[in-house]
Parts: sequence; structure tokens; C-alpha cells
Amino acid sequence: MTHTRVGIIGAGPAGLLLGHLLSARGVDNVILESRTREHVEHRQRAGILEQNTVDVLRACGAGARMDRQGLVHEGIELRFDRESHRVDFPSLTGGRTVMVYAQTEVVKDLIALREGPLLFEAEALSADPETGVVRYRHDGGQHELRCDFVVACDGFHGIGRAAMPSITTFQRDYPFAWLGILADVPPSCEELIYAHHERGFALHSMRSPHVSRLYLQVDPRDKLADWSDERIWDELETRFAVEGDWKLERGPITDRSITPMRSFVAEPMRHRRLFLAGDAAHIVPPTGAKGLNLAVADVTLLARALAGGEEGLLDGYSETALRRVWRAEHFSYQMTSMLHRDPHQTPFDYRLQLSQLRYTAASPAARACLAENYVGLPLS
Ligand code: APR
Ligand code: PHB
Repeated sequence: MTHTRVGIIGAGPAGLLLGHLLSARGVDNVILESRTREHVEHRQRAGILEQNTVDVLRACGAGARMDRQGLVHEGIELRFDRESHRVDFPSLTGGRTVMVYAQTEVVKDLIALREGPLLFEAEALSADPETGVVRYRHDGGQHELRCDFVVACDGFHGIGRAAMPSITTFQRDYPFAWLGILADVPPSCEELIYAHHERGFALHSMRSPHVSRLYLQVDPRDKLADWSDERIWDELETRFAVEGDWKLERGPITDRSITPMRSFVAEPMRHRRLFLAGDAAHIVPPTGAKGLNLAVADVTLLARALAGGEEGLLDGYSETALRRVWRAEHFSYQMTSMLHRDPHQTPFDYRLQLSQLRYTAASPAARACLAENYVGLPLS
């Protein structure tokens, strides 16, 4: 294996879906993944698929298990001041919804469908935008793969961005992080709850009718050892408090992590033979559930462009992809700013937040704006 049409670095959602879409179009491609299959299939990440992502996975034959096991959601709940306010999706977006289906499951489905070469424990060491040569380490030796095109789907910590000869980055780091848990307990609500509280943000999500996924805003300097199970559940209970008899169910915590929050964009997303896609090019705070969905949008566009036949798509990839990226960056920033307590926030800022939440809850126009961004603007 010394040459391929498209060399793909990374077997996360972006790399795997790109490989699948290219193979379906008869475009030879090789995927190099530095970690093990076990690792990439069990790495806890996002869980919300936009309508576009659902449509793309179904159209390319990767949606069967998603349709069997995924949960279609028609709205979310905003919770603040001990009040509960639902934002309905179909009535505000012409019928669009989202699917709750873990990124780990999308990755497993795409690996199971993989037709071309997919090398695990194969670490890309360099990628040359001019020659398309990728050097990688695998099975104890160093190898070279000559590619007509290289797509770095290698995430925020990959080598892709460093291989771009000139790149401009835009970044905002937030003064808080998310402590996320998986718990073996049925969800306490059928839909997601985004809670604003004076002590900080909390999110109630789920993975199945038997597994809950919850998040707490914490200090970015916090360590998991600072948070006992009891402290986590007590804090969640406090932040989700609401009038009425709603109760947060507790259960065994089976996975936990603390994730920093940042907004990040690298421009451009192409230089000559080298392309960036997914987290390699952009990061959003998870409040808008856009990370995985942006990766899907990038590679859906790039697969069409690399398959050829549509003039200008390849040259227009970076500009077209970045328009959607910046829209998602703004939406994710807005959701994050509206719902989190910034430790440097003034009382004036806090009242602005409450005013925005109350307006969003009361105004059909404001709810429609949130809904259409949350379910995802049409890919076209
Ligand atoms: N060589 C080979 N593989 C690499 C290298 C390298 N040098 N560097 C990183 N990788 C692999 C990582 O091990 C990972 O499996 O690239 C993959 C990148 O996958 P993701 O980080 O999941 O990024 P992406 O596919 O763009 O998906 C974005 O995943 O991280 C979440 O929040 C993110 O939901 C978003 C989605
Ligand atoms: C998740 O279920 O992991 C999830 C849901 C919604 C978000 C972020 C994460 O905004």
C-alpha cells in the first residue's frame, strides 16, 4: 500500500464518514488511526445528531442501528429561576428534529461498514501539502503513503494544522469546564434539560432509556478527585431544582471526565493537496451540540468535491465549510454565554442573562431562532 487517491488521517466521525462516502463513490482511500479500535469505539463524546447528520447517515447506509436504537427528540427544556420552558422543534422548523445517538455508536457503525484499508495504531508523523506524501509509524516501522489528496481528520491535537504552511487561528477559552458523567439510571426526563442556575450550568441528557448522561459546569482547575459521587448528584439536584414534583433519579456513575471549554477556528481549511475537516479545523463549546455535526457537514461537502465532476467544489471547500462553521461557532457561543455563570460576571451581566432567557422562553421568534440552529440549518 504505497499510493492512494485520498489519505485520511484519523478514524473519528470525520475520517470514518469521509472514507465511507468516498468508497461509495469509488474513490480509493486509506484511513490511518493512531489509537486502537477499542479506544476509538469507547471514547465518550457527544450524543446529539442534527437532522442533516441523520439524513446523511441514512443516505449512505450507516443509519440502520441509529434508527433502531436512537431516540428522536422534538424539543429541549430550558430551566431557570425554578421555571421550566420547553422549546419545540417541529413546529418552529418545518418538522425538523434531532436524534439522541452516541458518537461512540456512530463510530462503531462506520467501522463495521468500512470497506477500504483502515489501519489502527498507525500514527501519521507528517503530511506534505505539496507532494501529498504522508509518513506514518505502524507495526514498529516507518512507512510512506503517496496521496493525491490528504485530509487531516485528526482532531484538535492532530498534526494536520501544523502541516499547513500558513494558517490563521481564532480562539476563545472559557473560564469554566464541564464535568460529564454516564450513570446507569433511567433518564429523569424524556428530553434534554439545559439548566441555568446561580451556582452554574447543568445539562440532563441521556444515551438510552436506561442510561443517563449529565454535565455540570465546574472550575477548569477542578480535578475528578474533587468531585465525589454524592457531591456530583447533590450539585445536579440543586441546579435542576424546579417548582412541582420533578425528581432527579440517581444511580451508579460508570464514566466521568472533565472537559475544558473553547471556541476555535483555523483558516483556511485547505492548502494545495492538504485539507482539514472536523475538530482538526474547529472546536465549539458543547453547549450547542455542534461538534460532531460540523464534522459531518465538512466531510459531506468534501466527499462530493473529491469525487470530482462538480466544478469549483474543491476550490470552494474552505470558504463554504467555514461559513457553516462560523454560524455554529456563534450559536454555540450564544448558548454557552446565556446558560453559564462566568466567575467574572457582574450583577449587570447576570440580569442580562436572565432577560435573554426570559425573552427566549416567551418569544416564538426567539425560540424559532434557537430551534433552527439547534436542529441544524439545511446543508445546502
Ligand atoms: N495519526 C493518526 N491518527 C491521529 C493522529 C495522528 N497523528 N492524531 C490524532 N489522530 C486520531 C485520534 O486518535 C482520533 O481518533 O484522529 C481522530 C480524531 O477524531 P476526533 O477527535 O473525534 O475528531 P473528529 O473526527 O473531527 O470528530 C469531531 O469528535 O471529539 C469529538 O467533540 C468532537 O464531536 C466532535 C467530533
Ligand atoms: C450529550 O448527550 O452528550 C450532549 C447533549 C447536548 C449537548 C452536549 C452534549 O449540548
